[in-house]
Amino acid sequence: MTKARWLAERRSDPWHRKAKEEGYPSRAAYKLIHIQQKYRVIRRGDLVVDLGSWPGGMLSVESQTVGPEGLVVAVDLREPAFKAENVVFLQMDVNDAEAPFAILSALGNRRCDVLISDVSPRFTGVRDVDVFNQLMLGIRALEISDVVLRRGGNLVIKFFECEELPRIERRLRGSFRFLKRVITPPTLRKNSSELFLVGIGKLAERVSDGLAELVR
Ligand SMILES: C[S@@+](CC[C@H](N)C(=O)[O-])C[C@H]1O[C@@H](n2cnc3c(N)ncnc32)[C@H](O)[C@@H]1O
Repeated sequence: MTKARWLAERRSDPWHRKAKEEGYPSRAAYKLIHIQQKYRVIRRGDLVVDLGSWPGGMLSVESQTVGPEGLVVAVDLREPAFKAENVVFLQMDVNDAEAPFAILSALGNRRCDVLISDVSPRFTGVRDVDVFNQLMLGIRALEISDVVLRRGGNLVIKFFECEELPRIERRLRGSFRFLKRVITPPTLRKNSSELFLVGIGKLAERVSDGLAELVR
């Protein structure tokens, strides 16, 4: 897609317009609001980790929801536009081997209650490549959750529908009290294959073992 077409599409997108009117940095805010209304994944006072946080639509929802007693650790290659007293930003690549430990340290060496990953790769336009890159970033988010997410915690991770995903869901199902797929209203309009896996109540200490091998 050319930049001009992307800009034109964005201008005509009602979710983008609504985000501008309501002061959210991006339409992604409404994806998390939808998930939050359905499953109440975040509570007041929670410690939240947000992977892929720029420009900050979801981050602003997380910051408002946890309130001043909570904390959000945001990670991205780019610094989000959204700033707040209860947000700490780490400018880093989630694939960096040190990332889980840097996040844990930013959490004050406490494990978080919720991990949200909306990380997306730079799209190549070749569908199979983009879907695979998204899958690997989702698995990376699960690896990070092994270090930073407490037992009983919740996670929300973006994937694209693909043939490998059911294998990952089968493996994850026993590691959470329940696991659901959620397609959010802004995604429906775009006719995209994006979905979020929502895991409520982490049961196992580690959830990512063997997942990368499943998709290679
Ligand atoms: C769809 S945007 C996130 C939107 C954001 N969650 C919001 O609510 O506004 C995807 C983000 O993933 C980030 N990203 C992509 N690869 C990354 C990586 N390897 N490490 C950290 N961030 C990455 C991009 O910089 C981009 O900001």
